Amino acid sequence: LSDNTSQWSMAPSVRERIATIAQDENVHLSRYPEIYGHELKAALANRYSNDIAGLTSNNFVVGCGTDDVLDCIIRACTAEGDVIVNPRPSFPMAGYFGRYNDREILPLDTNKAGEPQLTGEVLKAKLIYLCTPNNPTGISLSRTFIEDLLAKFDGFVVIDEAYAEFNDDNFLPTLENNERVIVLRTFSKLHALAGLRIGYAIASREVISAIEAVRGPYKANTIALAAAIESLSQRAFQNDVVEQTREVRTWFIEQLRSIGLEPLKSDANFVFIPMEIPDGLREALKKADIAIRIFDEIDVYGSGIRVTIAPQKILEKLLAVLKDIV
Ligand SMILES: Cc1ncc(COP(=O)(O)O)c(C=O)c1O
Repeated sequence: LSDNTSQWSMAPSVRERIATIAQDENVHLSRYPEIYGHELKAALANRYSNDIAGLTSNNFVVGCGTDDVLDCIIRACTAEGDVIVNPRPSFPMAGYFGRYNDREILPLDTNKAGEPQLTGEVLKAKLIYLCTPNNPTGISLSRTFIEDLLAKFDGFVVIDEAYAEFNDDNFLPTLENNERVIVLRTFSKLHALAGLRIGYAIASREVISAIEAVRGPYKANTIALAAAIESLSQRAFQNDVVEQTREVRTWFIEQLRSIGLEPLKSDANFVFIPMEIPDGLREALKKADIAIRIFDEIDVYGSGIRVTIAPQKILEKLLAVLKDIV
């Protein structure tokens, strides 16, 4: 329950595709994959055609996980010494990749409601990374916030939507009339393909070709590409996982409240619970063979735990441990 990959696993047909791919006469694992993953990009354009008008495969770049795509975005859209903004608390990779590439990192402070505080300094940056719903809090940004930001800021805005499928809203529509917005999505979480490392970005054709140029050839492998394409065809399975996740999420939050904890409202497939970390929690979890993410020190909330939503029976085991120790 520590990495937010779907505990309902991948769709059965995806598992089957992966298991049989080496026997497929049309697939040659001894040869290179498609240079830029064109077939997957076409499948993605088809998948999102109802969300954004005029989308084509030229609006997508795929990579070795979203992390890889984010690294490429930083190298394509900013130069040495440019300022990159990474909110806190949030997913920290934009800051890490920025630092590895000699960019300056500026934190973006958020309040307890998860609203980032836009200062004059932030608005002078070259790129702002945002994550919605946010990891680790599960809080999502409002449309008003993004619209306000786009009106005031003229750099690149990366919107990481790794958990968007679990939320009612998403920011794909902002791509329609904005050349500076880049949306990140992944096959690691809802699609449960984290081990294959496959993620993508959606943006204008010009921005995508700049990202792809620094990405380089053959980043996504043949098995990952085929599994992702198959997974895109399994929407009924994924809709069902989303529905179950939301139901269990509501139940889990109620259970946590009933034992005196105060979880944040979540729009993602995990729940963040600000709390002091009790002595013995790690040992008790280890004994019960459960992994969750423990934050001993986290901005805004001090400390807390993050739990991936899983089938109810699994979370019941965790609740038993928490009840005993909190
Ligand atoms: C917000 C966010 N973005 C990106 C990632 C990484 O995605 P990928 O597995 O596609 O690199 C994660 C994984 O924890 C995440 O939480």
